[in-house]
Amino acid sequence: MSEHSQSLQSIVQAHVSMEGGLLPCLHAIQKHYGYIAPEAVADIARAFNLSRAEVHGTISFYSFFKTSPGKSLQLQVCAAESCQAMGGRQLYASLKSSIAANPALNEQVEIEKVYCLGNCACSPCARIGDDVYGDVSADQLLTELQQRSGVKNG
Ligand code: FES
Repeated sequence: MSEHSQSLQSIVQAHVSMEGGLLPCLHAIQKHYGYIAPEAVADIARAFNLSRAEVHGTISFYSFFKTSPGKSLQLQVCAAESCQAMGGRQLYASLKSSIAANPALNEQVEIEKVYCLGNCACSPCARIGDDVYGDVSADQLLTELQQRSGVKNG
């Protein structure tokens, strides 16, 4: 058994006896590997006594689950109603063009729209990794992305 497979098995086993353990298990796998490999679905399904289709359906239902490695920094910009009303659309457009204009940053940052980060009172919102930023500007987020990536402006 490979080291990768042992880690996956220990994560699965830590959640398999929990009531409703599938979602926390999938989150833990994504936190550990950065994504949920399609090859892991069979092992997860077997452990939870579910079909592969049920596990795949759960993974594909939630947009925050990734099935490929992707880039090292995930930037999510809220596009739901409250944030849209407070400039979320402009925030996304500004960040997307600033990131695209900086090849080094573009190599590391994956930007996507999400629909509500649960912080509507502080719109517009965005998330980098596990950290949610409320009432945030494109400049603040770019500064944070540059610090986290080690990439300088420009
Ligand atoms: S609408 Fe953006 S955090 Fe809820």
